[in-house]
Amino acid sequence: MHTIAQILKEKGTDVHHTSPDATVLGAVEMMSSKRIGALMVCKEGQPLGMFTERDLMTRVILGGRDPATTRIEEVMSTEVVFVEPSTRAEEAMAVMTERRCRHLPVVSEGRVVGLISIGDLVRWASRNQEFQIRQLKNYICGKYPG
Ligand SMILES: NC(=O)c1ccc[n+]([C@@H]2O[C@H](COP(=O)([O-])OP(=O)(O)OC[C@H]3O[C@@H](n4cnc5c(N)ncnc54)[C@H](O)[C@@H]3O)[C@@H](O)[C@H]2O)c1
Repeated sequence: MHTIAQILKEKGTDVHHTSPDATVLGAVEMMSSKRIGALMVCKEGQPLGMFTERDLMTRVILGGRDPATTRIEEVMSTEVVFVEPSTRAEEAMAVMTERRCRHLPVVSEGRVVGLISIGDLVRWASRNQEFQIRQLKNYICGKYPG
């Protein structure tokens, strides 16, 4: 059984964030330079929401807003779905599918302790599958538990 805590151990616990007063342009510059698709929005360490590529597309571009003058708090998502370090990886995948989100903050005792994306989970799933296939091959060839 793999948990989000184990995935975070490998991926790291840094969470990139911006402030509600930042401009959309500033946030997008940060997302581009860090090559990420989402930022946590925090004020004095408290998470207020998330700003993602989807928010940029629907609320800024389709909303006809100017990225240079629009503040993040005007366009961020405030209903943030999160998981806990003890959440199973499969469960987190199901949450992403059901709630249609591609980034999940990881929260423990009210504190954000990491963030995982759909790419992190796909990478985990593919490695896990490879491992299981190898085990099964070894079992069939009589090399189990090899
Ligand atoms: N090979 C890998 O290890 C790996 C892992 C994840 C994603 N990717 C690739 O990156 C591309 C886009 O990935 P995505 O759609 O999952 O989302 P993404 O581009 O937002 O995420 C890329 C990586 O940055 C991390 N990240 C994103 N926002 C973060 C934030 N605010 N704070 C801390 N970390 C943050 C994610 O957890 C992920 O590891 C895809 O092509 C995917 O295959 C590769």
